[in-house]
Amino acid sequence: MPDFIGRAINRRSLLRGAAGLAAAASLRNGAQAAPANEFKLTAEPARVSLVGEAQPTTDVWCYAGQVPGPEIRLRQGEPVRIVVENRLEENTTVHWHGIRLPVAMDGVPGLTQPPIKPGESFVYEFAPPDAGTFWYHPHANSLQQLGRGLAGALIVDEREPVAVDRDIVWMLADWRLTADAQIASGFGNSMEAGMAGRIGNTVTLNGRISTNERVHAGERVRLRLINCALARVMSLRFDGHRPVIVSTDGQPCEPHEPEGGRILLGPAMRIDVILDMQGEPGRRYQVIDDFYDGRSYWLTHLAYDEGPANRAPRPEAPLPLPRNPLPEPDLGKADTYELKLQGGMMSGAGMMGMSHGATWAINGVSMTGDGHAGMAPIITLQRGRSYIVTMLNQTAWWHPMHLHGHSFRVLRRNGAPVPHREWADTVLVPPREKVEVAFVADNPGDWMLHCHVMDHQVSGMMTILRVA
Ligand code: C2O
Ligand code: CU
Repeated sequence: MPDFIGRAINRRSLLRGAAGLAAAASLRNGAQAAPANEFKLTAEPARVSLVGEAQPTTDVWCYAGQVPGPEIRLRQGEPVRIVVENRLEENTTVHWHGIRLPVAMDGVPGLTQPPIKPGESFVYEFAPPDAGTFWYHPHANSLQQLGRGLAGALIVDEREPVAVDRDIVWMLADWRLTADAQIASGFGNSMEAGMAGRIGNTVTLNGRISTNERVHAGERVRLRLINCALARVMSLRFDGHRPVIVSTDGQPCEPHEPEGGRILLGPAMRIDVILDMQGEPGRRYQVIDDFYDGRSYWLTHLAYDEGPANRAPRPEAPLPLPRNPLPEPDLGKADTYELKLQGGMMSGAGMMGMSHGATWAINGVSMTGDGHAGMAPIITLQRGRSYIVTMLNQTAWWHPMHLHGHSFRVLRRNGAPVPHREWADTVLVPPREKVEVAFVADNPGDWMLHCHVMDHQVSGMMTILRVA
């Protein structure tokens, strides 16, 4: 990790300032300049300690030998080159979740690139247009590869630093572990696939069970929450604190407190909050996840050190983050399109009509596995046009629906306007509900749209939108 981070920092400092901008510009044109910010990422098996030193270590698949993978920090608009080497015994790819990048860099095997075979490498190159909180994970054998630990945070810094005392990432992962701390087998069991998906028994924060996260009275923290669970939806409550949401899925929003003080975070979703540490020195405050009835647990505690507050609590409310260069959909001229989410257990219609091996469908079509070349897009969108897409959940289960290559505005839920019309790339659609989102189809290519509950994705809740 020091090697990895060190290289990035060195490159970055070289690229700072006017000279840096010139270098970055020439790189974008493919000139023979020095390499841009360069990272190397190896997907490999490793043993890590997830559940504490006193317990056995866990066999995982991960990036750079660590869980989560190394945090990759990029600067908005600056080109990056990431060499991914596959030291697993099966094919992989990396998907840069939420980054609006060229389709050839999107990491979907068979659709946007050939899979990276064991022993081979693939070079990803892009310049992230948006500052915010993103993450990376494989898009091959996704249920197992993500479930065995392949995931990392991808943070794109704003051009001007944001005024906070600390910037912290919490990668939240969910594992199903056996008594000897090994990853339980049984990925893809069809009962689970037709229900809520593989929900585990152990939630880690940055790769370990966390009892305390140290904080200091008076500090203002930007906390980036990333749910990288296979299936677990989270609803986080910070005892004694009032987090203010400033960004959803990497896109700034009007700062606001979450409804009922709970931060709802489906798989693959990210929320940045500003947390003013107004608790008492020496005290601990629970962070609770109580999404599932009767199964609430504390994720960790905010543990204040004994030191006195280093400043009076800030009176001023957090400011909005600078906007990203997202095209605003023209709702007056938008075409509309409906996607029906279908299937699963207790759907009424049962699982009838699904093709072999499929449990779920979108508009009657099941695309399973990781997708394959030659699968026809469900619709072709005209490049540059605005679209309103309605997702109608006809099932009894929650679906975090993710669109590659674009961010969309969440307009309405069950016909009612959403208060902050926040941007997202993954929207949680509750059972039997309807969500309308809008975006400009400005990024040409074939883009996946799928549920991010991995069991659901691999058993049919996936499709392709073409932008041409
Ligand atoms: Cu985060 Cu298609 O995925
Ligand atoms: Cu789903």
